[in-house]
Amino acid sequence: MVARNPFTPTFGTVPAYLAGRQDVLTNMRQAFADGYGNPNLSTILIGARGTGKTALMSCIRDEALGAGWVTASTTALPGMLEDIYEQATMSAQHLVEHPSSQRLTSLTLGPVSAGWEHDQAPMQGNWRTRMSLLLDQLSLHDTGLLITVDEVHADQDELVRLAAVYQHFVTERRKVALVMAGLPYHVHRLVSDKSASFLRRSTQHQLGRIPSADVGFALRQTMLSEGKHAEDEAIDLCTKAIEGFAFMLQLVGYRTWAEAGESETIKTMHALRGIRGARQDMEDYILASTYRELSRGDLRFVESMAQDPTESRLSVIASRMGVSNGYASKYKTRLLAAGVIGERARGIVGFDIPGFREYVLARKDER
Ligand SMILES: Nc1ncnc2c1ncn2[C@@H]1O[C@H](COP(=O)(O)OP(=O)(O)OP(=O)(O)O)[C@@H](O)[C@H]1O
Ligand SMILES: [Mg+2]
Repeated sequence: MVARNPFTPTFGTVPAYLAGRQDVLTNMRQAFADGYGNPNLSTILIGARGTGKTALMSCIRDEALGAGWVTASTTALPGMLEDIYEQATMSAQHLVEHPSSQRLTSLTLGPVSAGWEHDQAPMQGNWRTRMSLLLDQLSLHDTGLLITVDEVHADQDELVRLAAVYQHFVTERRKVALVMAGLPYHVHRLVSDKSASFLRRSTQHQLGRIPSADVGFALRQTMLSEGKHAEDEAIDLCTKAIEGFAFMLQLVGYRTWAEAGESETIKTMHALRGIRGARQDMEDYILASTYRELSRGDLRFVESMAQDPTESRLSVIASRMGVSNGYASKYKTRLLAAGVIGERARGIVGFDIPGFREYVLARKDER
């Protein structure tokens, strides 16, 4: 029988072993034990694409469930508030008393007709009122509620409303937690919004590169979980190729595992072939699709950027493009929002997708 490949190079999946991030999980565990007053109860995970925001958020949710909390998870899209209410109600079903959902309101005999009214009680009041009633019921059981919002988007009114209501919940000393995740550009814009200023005081975690030792450990443990041992050199080569990037860890692991076939040992040659395959996957799936989505203006911007080895100054990019700073800024904003580039300091940008600079240069030479 073929053993299952334990690596998961798919966005949004929780890996078999979470590399690094232990500090965040330890903080959250303590926060759920404290219930209120702990600053980590309001946390924002910030990172470029594929750095593992969604995966970490799932693990935080597991911590909450382990501490007996109920959870409501949503994505920042229109309708998210209602989604949170429904998720929370479902998750709290075992604790919350439900009045019978239907009530007989009238009965006429011969000709027989019966009138039923769907009980609207749980739907009365605005969102805040309904959430408060739910939290009242949860507090009878000393149970907390964790709300998670993925893919935070600054232009989402409901998110600002959530932040405002959440602040009331905190002031009322309710047992609630709010964990959000998003690309740096969107989180930055959200916390700069005047009405969401409360979020500026949340704990913010920048999900940067995962330290090599954690990458190596996670690779080894994931392989062992399905019965394969890895040679030290194989792990070292993979770790170097991964460069601390969560998505690449899964790609390299997946390909290397596949190369090993039925062998119980993962050897250097498997790693070398696996890394080559993973780089090709990264190019085919991530780099090529990102590149295709660029407009002509975006392309001119990133090609000007790619001339610098690491970071670029906006004014230099603008002069290479032969346009004003203001004009170049428009493209900068679009690329930041898409997660292609990141702001290193005021007016200084760099690529946020590993290997994208080299890809842009290679395509330019081909044209
Ligand atoms: N700490 C980690 N250790 C090992 N693998 C991880 C880790 N975090 C995430 N991964 C894996 O990396 C990939 C990307 O993770 P995830 O989807 O969470 O990224 P993301 O930051 O949410 O990306 P996006 O911005 O596109 O939503 C997934 O295959 C996931 O299983
Ligand atoms: Mg995600």
